[in-house]
Parts: sequence; C-alpha cells; structure tokens
Amino acid sequence: MNLTELNRIATAMVAPGKGILAADESSGTIKKRFDAIGVESTEENRRDYREMLFRAKDAMSQYISGVILYDETIWQDAKDGTPLIKLIEQSGAIPGIKVDEGTQALPMCPGELVTVGLDKLAERLKKYYERGARFAKWRAVIDIGSGIPSMTAISVNAHALARYAALCQAAQIVPIVEPEVLMDGDHDIDRCYEVTGRVLNKTFQELRVQRVVLEGMVLKPNMAISGKKCAKQASVEEVAEKTIRLLKACVPAAVPGIAFLSGGQSDEEATAHLNAMHKLGPLPWGLTFSYGRALQAAPQKAWSGKAENVAAGQRAFSHRARMNGLAAKGEWQSSLEQKAA
Ligand code: 13P
Repeated sequence: MNLTELNRIATAMVAPGKGILAADESSGTIKKRFDAIGVESTEENRRDYREMLFRAKDAMSQYISGVILYDETIWQDAKDGTPLIKLIEQSGAIPGIKVDEGTQALPMCPGELVTVGLDKLAERLKKYYERGARFAKWRAVIDIGSGIPSMTAISVNAHALARYAALCQAAQIVPIVEPEVLMDGDHDIDRCYEVTGRVLNKTFQELRVQRVVLEGMVLKPNMAISGKKCAKQASVEEVAEKTIRLLKACVPAAVPGIAFLSGGQSDEEATAHLNAMHKLGPLPWGLTFSYGRALQAAPQKAWSGKAENVAAGQRAFSHRARMNGLAAKGEWQSSLEQKAA
C-alpha cells in the first residue's frame, strides 16, 4: 500500500471549489429517475445520459473532482467507442466506483438494513483498479423511526464499512465511507444530530480497529437536518451550525475530506447548506459535495431522453456544478441562481 498516493488522491477529491458527481445509481434507482422524465431505462439510454454528463467540459474540468460510477458504466463505451471512463480522465476528474451490492433485511432487527457485497470484493477491486478506478464507495443506510436505529444495525453496518475500507486501501483505492442516516422520517434535527453522532462514532471506532488509515479515506455523511416530514424545519444556519459542530466532535482532523450526500434535499437547499458551513470556517478537513440527486435532477429534466436536448442538459448540469463549486468555497449567493433562471 502506498499511503502517500492514497492521501494525494483523497486530497484531490476534495480540492477547494471542486466536488464529486455521484452518478452511481444502480439499475433500479436509475429506472426510477428515468421513469420520472418518461425515458425508458435501456442500456443505450443510460449510456447516452451519462455520456452527456461526462462530456460537459466546463463542469467536469472546473468543478468536478471525481465521478462515482456504477459497474455497468465503468465497462461502457461512448457512442464513438471511447470508454466512458476515459472521458472522465480526459476532463481531469478522477474515476471512482460503487462497490457495495445494496442492502438486505437485517435479521432480528425489524425494519433495519445491512449493506452487502464483501464477498469477493478484493478480486473486484483489483479489476476496477486495472480499469482506472482510483476510489470507491460503499453506502450504509440507517433509518430513524420509532425504536430504531438499534445499536445492532449501527454496529454491523460500521463493521462492514470498515471491512470494505481496509480492502480498498490494500488494493490502492481510496474508500469513500458513507454511513447515511436517512432524512425520510418526521424526526427533528436534534434527533438526527444524536443518531448521526452515534453512527459516526461507531464507524470511526471500527475504522481504527480494522487499521484503516484515516489519511487515505474520504467520509461521505448526511448533514444534521430535520426529517422531511417533520413539521418544524431547521433553518439553513441551524443545519450548518449543528452539522459542523457534530463533524468537529466526531471526525478526526487526519481525514483529508468530507463530501456530503444530498439525501433528498432540493438542489438549492443542498447548495445553501454547504455554503453556510464554509462561512463557519476555518475547518479541519476539506468540505465539499458528493451529490447525486442535487446535481442531476435539473439536467435529467432538461435532457428528457432527447438527443436535441443534450446541450440544454449539459447547461443545467454545468450550472448546478458551478453553484456547488462556489458553495464549496463559501462564495455562493442565491442571487446567482436567479440570474441563471
Ligand atoms: P444523493 O446525493 O442523491 O443522496 O446521492 C448520493 C449518493 O451517492 C448516495 O449514495
């Protein structure tokens, strides 16, 4: 294992003003996104859509540090025969790969999930490295509800995250460690804060036990935020203040960077929250975005599966990438959104 190189990649993934495009929707998830814009989820349509994003030159070269791919995409070629992963490399961004294999019901813990995919992971990582992937992602899912999460669910998911992260580093791949506490419930921001704190503490405890080198990883957490169905929605300032307080308490400064998931926040909320956090700096780690929906909802709508809309889709993607790139430096203002609209 070359630690200097792992650290170099992790640091580049959270370079100032840049963030990660999470384009690693599984076949089931991308079908849901395509259903919403009336596009059939065929292999060709998935390729065309992702090719559109990766060929958006301005966005990719100025604001995107890395792209998380799904297994199908990393082996796919663009229409002209260029491997899609080459388009990413040519733009200057780093290719990454989602390596978990989704979730299964956790026995004895009704309503809770465990992420699977550790079997044969070492062999898969070797193939992905040869193809050009330099980082990976594994997402654990923790739900908040009546009587959950259990400490069992938190522990087994943290254990699997650390097993994955250690295997990645041994394969010279930077692990993105993603313990996602969902924002789907009616809980308030303080309950999210408390649960996320427990999840982060357990995750870092497992990472240490399994000898993961903190300097060679990136954390992808949720923000401390109100549940979507909570009657009392916390303000942008409260989300920023509580998220930074929580991360400072739980995430060692040895970690080069933190890249948030958007988790169902609106495009502009996700941008405003990241921006407000940078106003609270200086911060001990790089802090940026690793958004899926908050970067792609607008370009998906603009594209809607039509070849004649590719330029419009790329414009919509470039706009969101630029807004988030500015937010990652605390330089975003809502008036910039209005000007573009
Ligand atoms: P969202 O930003 O849509 O939450 O997706 C990020 C991601 O990679 C979730 O695993």
